Amino acid sequence: MPLLEFEDLSIRYRTDGPDVKASEDVNFEVDYGKTFGLVGESGCGKTTLGKSILQLLDDNGYVESGHIWYDDVLPEWKTDTGKVRPEVVEDDRYPVRDDGMMDLTALDSDDIRRVRWNNISLIPQSSMNALNPVYRVGDQIVEAIRVHEPETPEDEAHERARDLLEQVGIERERADDYAHQFSGGMKQRAIIAMAMACNPDMVIADEPTTALDVIIQDRVLDAIREMQDQFDVSMLIISHDISVMAETCDRLGVMYGGRLMESGTTKEVIENPANPYTMGLQNSFPTVEESQERLLAIPGTPPTLTEPADECRFAERCPFATNVCMNDHPPMYDAEAASDGRSRVQQEADVGHRSACYRLDVLEEMRERAKEEETWQQTETPSSS
Ligand SMILES: Nc1ncnc2c1ncn2[C@@H]1O[C@H](COP(=O)(O)OP(=O)(O)O)[C@@H](O)[C@H]1O
Ligand code: SF4
Ligand SMILES: [Mg+2]
Repeated sequence: MPLLEFEDLSIRYRTDGPDVKASEDVNFEVDYGKTFGLVGESGCGKTTLGKSILQLLDDNGYVESGHIWYDDVLPEWKTDTGKVRPEVVEDDRYPVRDDGMMDLTALDSDDIRRVRWNNISLIPQSSMNALNPVYRVGDQIVEAIRVHEPETPEDEAHERARDLLEQVGIERERADDYAHQFSGGMKQRAIIAMAMACNPDMVIADEPTTALDVIIQDRVLDAIREMQDQFDVSMLIISHDISVMAETCDRLGVMYGGRLMESGTTKEVIENPANPYTMGLQNSFPTVEESQERLLAIPGTPPTLTEPADECRFAERCPFATNVCMNDHPPMYDAEAASDGRSRVQQEADVGHRSACYRLDVLEEMRERAKEEETWQQTETPSSS
């Protein structure tokens, strides 16, 4: 059951020239207690989507259309049975769906601020440098607890801070250390502990392992897994590294140029990728088991997002592009149906295994060819093929 649902979300950034189309008609869901991973090269719109949930976009960013539906609204809006109070629905202040989900993009600044404390916490990109150097790490977690729950006695808050540090694999007594006494990986784990301090229903972690070496990455991933086990928390993990996702996520969404190209269970997307972009992305990261294999980068660079062409966003770099790819960006198709020769558009509900690609009729062939180095060296343009 979804806790959070992106519906046709399009986000723009105002610039001196045309707006940047940072996300375009994005649909996906994060289920209760599950982890959704957003993956894709740098600049494809992942951070933008993560920040939009809590209305933390940069000042020139805005939601052009679409919704971010959220099920677990603020406590005072709910009845004992967890439904939205009728007077809140009738109040008309905010859009509420029949199933009780509310649109986070519509909340005013006071209410979204309360959602930030009560419901959802964001661990921003590069946040491990955000620990305050002049306070002890433990005290910073205590502070987070006491701002949110002022009634918690100080010694109890200290105990909880030590518990949290222990859960992310940091010895309790290190709570008395300062940030400079922590390694990079420990800082990142302390930040994860801090994000859990107020018992959120959902945590958004933006590039939690980026800039850490492989062994340290593993420890951070262990800390995330520990949190998933200990707390019944939903997570949105954002990373450019698809191999990081394999170990922590239940479902994956693969983004390219502001568009979701593929989504499905982690197993479906990793073992049976249904989009050429996913296939290319996989070639460019070592899998955990086969770290010695040769890596193959996708030639070219991601598209600029001001005035993108109408064609499939990936067409310029896709080795399988043909004329059919050149008119519009493809809708999301049911990837499993397509491999049986059926064609079914699955634009809305984020269920099953979906892929935005016109060529799913030759999916098996694309999968085979995507493993070969020569495939990615071709620079043929679609019009000549
Ligand atoms: N404040 C901003 N103003 C203009 N463009 C921006 C701004 N923030 C991000 N962008 C652009 O939006 C696109 C998506 O960026 P981002 O969401 O940070 O991608 P990712 O997290 O996948 O690297 C990029 O083209 C980026 O340059
Ligand atoms: S629609 Fe065409 S260009 Fe786009 S990913 Fe599929 S084959 Fe490649
Ligand atoms: Mg980012």
